[in-house]
Amino acid sequence: MSNFEKNILITGGAGFIGSHLVRLFVNKYPNYRIINLDKLTYAGNLANLRDIENAPNYTFVKADIVDAEAMDKLFETYPIDGVIHLAAESHVDRSISNPMEFIFTNIVGTVNLLNAARKSWNGNFEGKRFQHISTDEVYGSLGETGMFTEETPYDPRSPYSASKASSDHIVLAYYHTYGMPVVVSNCSNNYGSFHFPEKLIPLCINNIRHNKPLPIYGKGENIRDWLYVVDHARALDLIFHKGRLGEKYNIGGNNEWTNIDLVKKLCEIMDRKLDRTPGTSAQLITYVKDRAGHDLRYAIDATKIREELGWEPSIKFDEGFELTIDWYLENQKWLEDVTSGSYQKYYEKQYVAR
Ligand code: NAD
Ligand code: TYD
Repeated sequence: MSNFEKNILITGGAGFIGSHLVRLFVNKYPNYRIINLDKLTYAGNLANLRDIENAPNYTFVKADIVDAEAMDKLFETYPIDGVIHLAAESHVDRSISNPMEFIFTNIVGTVNLLNAARKSWNGNFEGKRFQHISTDEVYGSLGETGMFTEETPYDPRSPYSASKASSDHIVLAYYHTYGMPVVVSNCSNNYGSFHFPEKLIPLCINNIRHNKPLPIYGKGENIRDWLYVVDHARALDLIFHKGRLGEKYNIGGNNEWTNIDLVKKLCEIMDRKLDRTPGTSAQLITYVKDRAGHDLRYAIDATKIREELGWEPSIKFDEGFELTIDWYLENQKWLEDVTSGSYQKYYEKQYVAR
C-alpha cells in the first residue's frame, strides 16, 4: 500500500497543459503521489518535465487510454483516488485531416478511463473524483457579441470539438447514471511554455525566428480568448479540491484578440527581442486558405469559477506573452527537438499546398 495521502492520476501529463499541471501538483503536494499516464504521441514529450522527473512523489506510466485492459491494470496497480483527465488529440487542423484518432482517444479513451475508475471504486466514491478537462470549442462559434456560459448549449463544429463535446456528455452521464463523482471544466485557448509549435503562437514564434512565412487563415479576423497556461493549471487545482461534483466550470482569460492583431503584436515584440528593424517580422505575414468550418469567435464568461472558487487570471497578457516569447527564445533546443522528424512531414502537408 502506498504511504501517500492521495494517489492522483493525471492523463496527458507530458503534453502542454498537462505538464504544467503535473509540475504544479508535484511541487505543491508532496503528500500526493502523482501518476502521469501518457502515450507520448507527437504532442507528448518527457522533456517537458525534466525539472520534476526525479521527484519522489512522481511516477510516469507510458500507456494508451484507448487500451481498456491497460486502464484496468493501472487502477489495479495504484489505489487511485483522483483522476485529472487531459489526454487528448488537441489540434483542430489534424482533426480535419484525420478525425478517427480523435474519436478513439477523445471519446473511447475517456470512456475506458471512466469504466476503469468505476470498476475500481466499486460504488465507494468517498474521497474520489474524476475531473475531465475540456474546451470552450464545444459551445460552437460566437458572433460579434455574447460569451459562453456554463448554460450555453453545445454546438461543436469541428471533429475535435465534437469529440470533446461527446466526452463531456459521457462524463456527465456517468454522474447522473452511476453517481460517479465527476466535474468538468471548459477552458479558452491557452498560451505559454511547452506549447507544441503546430498551434498559432509557438508556430509563429518559431517561424519568425527562422524567417519563414506566418500563415494566417482567411482574413485573420477570427477571435480567440487567450489564457496563460499557469493560470489554467491553478484553476484546475481549485476545481479538483473545491469544485462541486456534477458541475461544469468555464475558465477564460477575458482577453480577446483577432488572430491578425495577435500576430502583429508578436511581430513587434520579436523585432525588439531579435534586434530587427521595426516592421521586419510583420513582412512575413502571409494570408492562406481558411480553415474548413473555421469558428469565428470564442469568449468565456468565467463568472461562476470567480464567484464560487475565487479564481481569476493572475498574469496579465502583456506579461505572460513576454514570458512565453522569452521562454521560446531561450529554449531553441526544445523547439528543434519537437520540430524534427514527423512534425516536418505534418508541416509540409498542412502548409505547402495552402
Ligand atoms: P497536447 O496535445 O499538448 O497534449 C495532449 C497529451 O495527451 C500529449 O502528451 C499526448 O501524448 C497525450 N495523449 C494523446 N493521446 C493519448 C492516448 N491515446 N493515450 C494517452 N495519452 C495520450 O494538448 P493540450 O493543449 O495540453 O490539451 C490538454 C487538454 O486540455 C486536452 O484535453 C484539450 O482538449 C484541453 N484543452 C486545451 C486547450 C488549449 O488551448 N491547448 C484549451 C482548452 C482545453
Ligand atoms: P490554434 O492555435 O490551432 O487553436 P484553436 O484552433 O484551437 O483555436 O488556432 C488559433 C487561431 O489561429 C484559430 O483561429 C486558427 C488560427 N490559425 C492561423 O491563422 N494560422 C495557423 O497556422 C494556425 C495553426 C492557426
